[in-house]
Amino acid sequence: GAPRKNLKFKKAVDATLKSTPENKILTYNNFYEFGTDKTDPAENAQDLKVEPWTLTVEGEVAKPGKLDVWELINGTQLEERIYRMRCVEAWSMVIPWVGIELGKILKQFEPTSKAKYVAFQTLHDPEQMPGQKNRFVGGGIDYPYVEGLRMDEAMHPLSLLAVGLYGKTLAPQNGAPIRLVVPWKYGFKGIKSIVRIKLMERMPSTSWNQLAPDEYGFYANVNPQVDHPRWSQASERFIGEGGLLGFSRQATLPFNGYGEQVAGLYSSMNLKRWF
Ligand code: MTE
Repeated sequence: GAPRKNLKFKKAVDATLKSTPENKILTYNNFYEFGTDKTDPAENAQDLKVEPWTLTVEGEVAKPGKLDVWELINGTQLEERIYRMRCVEAWSMVIPWVGIELGKILKQFEPTSKAKYVAFQTLHDPEQMPGQKNRFVGGGIDYPYVEGLRMDEAMHPLSLLAVGLYGKTLAPQNGAPIRLVVPWKYGFKGIKSIVRIKLMERMPSTSWNQLAPDEYGFYANVNPQVDHPRWSQASERFIGEGGLLGFSRQATLPFNGYGEQVAGLYSSMNLKRWF
């Protein structure tokens, strides 16, 4: 693959979380467009053409348009955000992302009063993505991969469009050149290699919810009290330093530890119903 480029960014001030080693973040992935095994994305995504890359923003906005993502990466004040990442499969990491607040980008397109949700779409290119060509390779997802947030979630200052990690541009397996990071939600909300953002009045459809609605909800807030139908969500396998056995079992925190910042978004909701 193309070498990852160094980024200029504002360093995180609060660096109390110890990050998962970079080589693990780069080799233990979910990106079903490149296969369903954890090592498939690192093996199969290296030829993904990430430059140039255009991100279209449309729908309920006064000023729909297109972003040149490399102009954005080179011409914007980027910042580091060291976040916990909790996959719905009950493993977790800490990842030092570099990116831009999603809300700051959306505001430039002037959302209308009808904008209640934000829909995201990954690149659809079966020639480059073997999982989109073959249902068995791609885990049965109906591509392109799509995700969504409620407008207030998207505008929350923790919601990030990541363009790098460990100080360098993203590797293809992590969703180059631009992917979503919503640290209080399960990792599958963090849609990779985004080409389209659409602001909408209605709740958009999302890939994992389409595939198994009883198992994956639209909200997907990390919640140790709501188990997956097939496994417990009370604890997680944290992937840290060390070899193959370099993980430790730890309790899962409500909203993945970000409850103080985000619980207010859901104060009137029954989170068992809206999982
Ligand atoms: N985005 C796309 N387009 N396709 C995917 O299969 N997998 C999701 C999410 N984004 C996925 C995706 C899941 S299940 C997780 S846990 C995270 O990406 C993993 O991100 P990472 O590999 O960078 O750690």
